[in-house]
Amino acid sequence: MTADVVTAALDQILAEVAATPRRWLVTGAAGFIGSHLLETLLAAGQHVVTLDNFATGHQRNFDQVRASVGDPAWARHVAITGDIADEATCRTACEGVDIVLHQAALGSVPRSLADPLTTHRANATGFLTLLVAARDAKVQRFVYAASSSTYGDSPTLPKVEDVIGRPLSPYAVTKYLDELYADVFCRSYGMPTMGLRYFNVFGPRQDPDGAYAAVIPRWIAAMLEGRECVINGDGETSRDFCFVRNVVQANLRAALTTDAEAIGRVYNVAVGQRTTLNQLHAALATAVEARQAGTRVPAPTRAPFRAGDVRHSLADISLARRLLGYEPTHTIAAGMAETVAAY
Ligand SMILES: NC(=O)c1ccc[n+]([C@@H]2O[C@H](COP(=O)([O-])OP(=O)(O)OC[C@H]3O[C@@H](n4cnc5c(N)ncnc54)[C@H](O)[C@@H]3O)[C@@H](O)[C@H]2O)c1
Repeated sequence: MTADVVTAALDQILAEVAATPRRWLVTGAAGFIGSHLLETLLAAGQHVVTLDNFATGHQRNFDQVRASVGDPAWARHVAITGDIADEATCRTACEGVDIVLHQAALGSVPRSLADPLTTHRANATGFLTLLVAARDAKVQRFVYAASSSTYGDSPTLPKVEDVIGRPLSPYAVTKYLDELYADVFCRSYGMPTMGLRYFNVFGPRQDPDGAYAAVIPRWIAAMLEGRECVINGDGETSRDFCFVRNVVQANLRAALTTDAEAIGRVYNVAVGQRTTLNQLHAALATAVEARQAGTRVPAPTRAPFRAGDVRHSLADISLARRLLGYEPTHTIAAGMAETVAAY
């Protein structure tokens, strides 16, 4: 293990999860982040119900989790194929569940600009439908994927949870709406909700294909095939890239905390480091060339800035550190090496 990976914070919460068998609901588990949560929970001896309609998820992610955890652990998984906007499906999924980790949503700012209604149906109507079902099932904790897009046009850096701007896309509107609903459900019904504002998450199983693919898997796939990557804008746009294992840790910590002060809040989940697209391209090219002998990554081409994109993004993670005990275990470099190896 290198200084880039110090897993104490993750190991500690994994031991805590493993100590008590619980029933979890992970929505969006056929997707990227959800599949990592599913894998981690099954490996820790937990019972997991999943709900996914495969809008952007894949059976191959389930197949990989099954291969990783083995058949006896996989037998503790009940998969429901269905839509989070369907009331009856959500009620069935929440039956007997202790903890919800809600990941299902339609990601991508450009997708939401092209088709705001479909994004709203999944991210806002679906969110509220699941929230009501979880409230009625009296779940002990409702942890959900919020988003750094909620910071919108706020110029403040680093981003602190209570200083947000105006949303820059329909996607950002839906994610902020989710926070408002979760907050109202916490205050009105005493429901223990907790939002995690993820900043650009990356790692194995993130979908490299399609018009709405995230930048890291799209670039790794292009580099491995010797194709040019496209940088939108001048390449000085920056992001706080966060390896998926850090996101898993944050979810488990939010799920199990017993600190009353920690419940009913939203938290930044990131590393707290800024990387520009130009730096990202260079780092990925180095990782790919080191991994695949003989590969020469071509220089990137340039395209105009994308509408709805935030210029700079950097998280202040001190609230998650203080109230959840969250400590990122993987640096960007360590995460990239694991990710390139997986592709
Ligand atoms: N990946 C990131 O960088 C990032 C950043 C901020 C927030 N988030 C949020 O994290 C969550 C997970 O993102 P991801 O990157 O794993 O995306 P993903 O597309 O890989 O996974 C989302 C999953 O949700 C499922 N889904 C979508 N609509 C559904 C519906 N109506 N009913 C049931 N299932 C549905 C999809 O089929 C997919 O399996 C999302 O809520 C996303 O908005 C992700």
